[in-house]
Amino acid sequence: MTWPARILSALRCPVCAAPVAETASGLRCEAGHTFDRARRGYVTLRAGHAKTLNADTAEMVAARERLQSGGWYAPVADAAARAVAQVARGGRGLVLDLAGGTGYYAAAALDALPGWDGIAMDLATPALKRAARAHPRCVAVGGDALRTLPLADASVDIVLSVFGPRVPSEVMRVLAPGGALVVVTPLPQHLRELVEAVDGVHVHEGKSERLAAQYPQLERAVSEDVVATLALTADAARDVLAMGPNAHHVAADDLASLGARETTLAVRVESLVAPRR
Ligand SMILES: C[S@@+](CC[C@H](N)C(=O)[O-])C[C@H]1O[C@@H](n2cnc3c(N)ncnc32)[C@H](O)[C@@H]1O
Ligand SMILES: [Zn+2]
Repeated sequence: MTWPARILSALRCPVCAAPVAETASGLRCEAGHTFDRARRGYVTLRAGHAKTLNADTAEMVAARERLQSGGWYAPVADAAARAVAQVARGGRGLVLDLAGGTGYYAAAALDALPGWDGIAMDLATPALKRAARAHPRCVAVGGDALRTLPLADASVDIVLSVFGPRVPSEVMRVLAPGGALVVVTPLPQHLRELVEAVDGVHVHEGKSERLAAQYPQLERAVSEDVVATLALTADAARDVLAMGPNAHHVAADDLASLGARETTLAVRVESLVAPRR
């Protein structure tokens, strides 16, 4: 597989935290723990058989990928790319797309960061299969965003977190001095019309004041709200519901009878920057 040295030196064994090296079949740590490379190119760095309860299902990942490749989320990807370009220091670095799903945002970030490498990390196997081919400078790693990340201290220059879980203490541990956290969260009106049409559940993430409070060591650099009207086709409307929590809450009949409709896309992209020390 031959992963870039910058990526290999950032990865750590999930069992004993030792550095890892590449072997013919995957990765091996200095203490001898081995992690096989899947046929599709990703490697899972998780200890034991922790639950993957919150991992997206194959259907959710497929719906998300159709929407992303259909360009519906391009305004979000563009804003994420602008944000990483603004906080990136230097011509080389490592970006971690945490709970990165298909790697769509990792790819957008890497397009905006020539010379950088990327890791898309997620729990869901169907997401990792796609993330492994999301971008030539991106690798896909199976990892749990809610546990100790299989990454060295201060090894990541930008942590990108789009609609996914993250643990502040782990983000801070892996972030290099002068690095940045770029977070995309839905605003309260995000997808409101669509969710109301099917009596679905709304995902309300915390307000940005709460985000800043979770990272007192970081400085707020920039924040951009992206608000647009999406004129969804019937297929796209179904996919928007199928990729999220409403996949389990909305009756199949309601999904099937959903027609084309407009809804609001509304997200906040925030960048928080670590001191250089
Ligand atoms: C709402 S999706 C966002 C995916 C991607 N960032 C995007 O916006 O396209 C949430 C993602 O988090 C992943 N996930 C859920 N729990 C996780 C965990 N503990 N560790 C890593 N990934 C997790 C899911 O598999 C899913 O891909
Ligand atoms: Zn080990």
